[in-house]
Amino acid sequence: MKGLILSGGKGTRMRPITHTAAKQLLPVANKPILFYGIEAIKSAGIKDIGIIISPETGEDVKAVVGDGSRWGIKIEYILQDQPLGLAHAVKTARPFLKDDTFVMYLGDNLIKDGVAPLVKRFNETSVDAFILLKEVNNPSAFGVAHLDGNGRILSLEEKPAHPKSNLALVGVYLFTKNIHKAIDEIKPSRRGELEITDAIQRLITTNYHVGSYVLQSWWLDTGKKDDMLEANRVVLDEMNDVSMLGDLQEGSRISGRVRIGKGSILKNCTVRGPAMIGDDCVLEDSYVGPFTSIGDRAQVTHAEIEHSILRENCQILDFHGRIEDSLIGVNVELTRSNFKPVAFRLMLGDDSKVEVV
Ligand code: TTP
Repeated sequence: MKGLILSGGKGTRMRPITHTAAKQLLPVANKPILFYGIEAIKSAGIKDIGIIISPETGEDVKAVVGDGSRWGIKIEYILQDQPLGLAHAVKTARPFLKDDTFVMYLGDNLIKDGVAPLVKRFNETSVDAFILLKEVNNPSAFGVAHLDGNGRILSLEEKPAHPKSNLALVGVYLFTKNIHKAIDEIKPSRRGELEITDAIQRLITTNYHVGSYVLQSWWLDTGKKDDMLEANRVVLDEMNDVSMLGDLQEGSRISGRVRIGKGSILKNCTVRGPAMIGDDCVLEDSYVGPFTSIGDRAQVTHAEIEHSILRENCQILDFHGRIEDSLIGVNVELTRSNFKPVAFRLMLGDDSKVEVV
């Protein structure tokens, strides 16, 4: 069995961050989202993974992920010229996939239980495709599956006005080679994409057996800023170890589950977990509140930060204010020359420079 991770796409919902960065490389608890997908597939015993990349962000993805040796697996890259849909990505990956069975995983998704239970269930049955589903409160926003009593999928609908169930398609699928024929038989949708839901529907109408597995644990799609913050909150909340590799200097206090990386210095700071501070950071006279992760080499002075993600190399200097619910890209410089205490809610792309006066 092979793995196929989709890490191309446009990422329009995450602009301006995604003008310069692949959304799949954005960090959740200081680790790129994409790594969670790779590790999920690896934990299902799959050692041969293809990653779909786009011309815009593909080189960054390659540089960060590498050839898979750090996980003891093999990773190949497959360039999709244009983001013409999930089924188009599968079509592009055909030379890599050959006729093998494969798990397809959307690179911006996070799933607590990984994909091992799905692969196990698939191996116990003899279906042509297997789809991961999750009960949601707002099915109209998703692809929705209608099942019979045995979990066999009877039909799929993309964002239906009147959904037949509350079971949404999570971004994980298991396919046999039959999916390729179905993809060859579908046409682009109204939005101009080759939709994987149409290909699966094609399998169903041509009498192939499409099974399902309903996920009981959490699943997070990190398409938007608030989704990212929620993913960061959930993953930090599950972190159950404390690690202090940095230097906690005078006046600093830590409470709760906190990880501080090597080479980091905290002076007169309070950190309330769950929170994570990377390597070689310098924090002074600041407060870091729950559900915050700060990337390597950040510098923060006179600031309060809570429920936020700060990427690497940020400088938030003499800020005298509070930052919350914010996603701040790499190399951002944030300074302030008016000391009236106020709160900020920000989404800043890489290399931003902001001066609040
Ligand atoms: P989406 O989130 O559906 O699409 P997108 O990345 O273009 O984002 P946005 O809606 O914000 O513009 O894609 C799900 C995942 O699949 C994501 O990791 C990107 C990837 N993808 C591809 O690799 N190729 C494609 O053709 C498409 C549509 C998505």
